[in-house]
Amino acid sequence: MSKIIALAGKGGVGKTTVSALLIRQFAKNGISPILAIDADPNSNLGETLGLAVEKTVGDVREGYMKDPQQVPSGMDKINYLEMMMNQGLIEEKDFDLMVMGRQEGQGCYCMVNNILNKFMEELEVNYKYLLVDNEAGMEHLSRRTSGRVDMLIMVTDYALRGLRAVKRIKEMLPELKLDVKNIGLVVNRAPEKLNAKFLEEVEEIGVPIICIIPEDNTLLDFDMERKSFMDLPDDCLSVLKLDELMKETIIS
Ligand SMILES: Nc1ncnc2c1ncn2[C@@H]1O[C@H](COP(=O)(O)OP(=O)(O)O)[C@@H](O)[C@H]1O
Ligand SMILES: [Mg+2]
Repeated sequence: MSKIIALAGKGGVGKTTVSALLIRQFAKNGISPILAIDADPNSNLGETLGLAVEKTVGDVREGYMKDPQQVPSGMDKINYLEMMMNQGLIEEKDFDLMVMGRQEGQGCYCMVNNILNKFMEELEVNYKYLLVDNEAGMEHLSRRTSGRVDMLIMVTDYALRGLRAVKRIKEMLPELKLDVKNIGLVVNRAPEKLNAKFLEEVEEIGVPIICIIPEDNTLLDFDMERKSFMDLPDDCLSVLKLDELMKETIIS
C-alpha cells in the first residue's frame, strides 16, 4: 500500500517549498515511484519542480461538465474521462505529478467526481509514496474515500499566526474524518533557537516539531530565476534540513 504524506498550513508559509524539497530528497535517496499531487487550486508545485502544467483534473472535470457530448461515439464516458485524466499525468524520471486545479463550479458533479475519485484511487496504488500539497481547507483529502494519511506535515512560519492556523487545522481533523496516523510540525524560515513563547504555544497545540528550516536565500534565487528545486545544490541550508527530515522521520 502506498504511504500518504500530506502537507497543510496557512498560505505562504512554505507548504509547496517543503513538498518540492521532499520530492527532491525522495529522488536523491533513490525512492520511487512517487506521485506528487498538487491539491491547491492556486497550484504552483509544478512550477517549483520546473514543469509546465497543461491540464489539471479540474480542467477535465469542467470541460466535461460544459460539454458532455464531447465523448466520442462508441466510447464509454468512464473510459473517456480516464483517458483525459491520464493525459494530465506528468511523468518525470523521478516522480509523477497530478495537478487537481480549480475547484468545481455550480451544478451536479457527483457522477464526474465519482469517476475522477475512482481514477485517482486506482492510480495511487502504483506508487510507494503519495505526496499531497494541500490548500488550507484540505478539501482534496477529506473527499477521499479512505481518508488515510500516514504522515500529516503541518507547516508554519516563525510566527504565532502561522501556529494558530496549525491549531485550527488540527482541531478540524475529526470533522474531516481523516485517519491521520502521524503528525509533525515543520517550522519554516526560523532561527536555529526558537523563542520560548513560540515553543510554549507549540507545546499547547501538541504537534511535535520534526524539522526547523532556516531562511534560505538560495530558494529565493531559484524562485526568481524559475529554476527547478530539483536542481538545488546538496549543501544549501534548506536541503540539508530536508535531508535530515527525510532520513529521520519519513523513510526511517
Ligand atoms: N526557508 C525559506 N527561505 C526562503 N524563502 C522561502 C523559504 N520557504 C519558502 N520560501 C519562499 O516563500 C514563498 C512562499 O512559499 P510557498 O512554499 O509557496 O508557500 P505555500 O505553499 O505554503 O503557500 C515562496 O516564494 C518560497 O520560495
Ligand atoms: Mg503552495
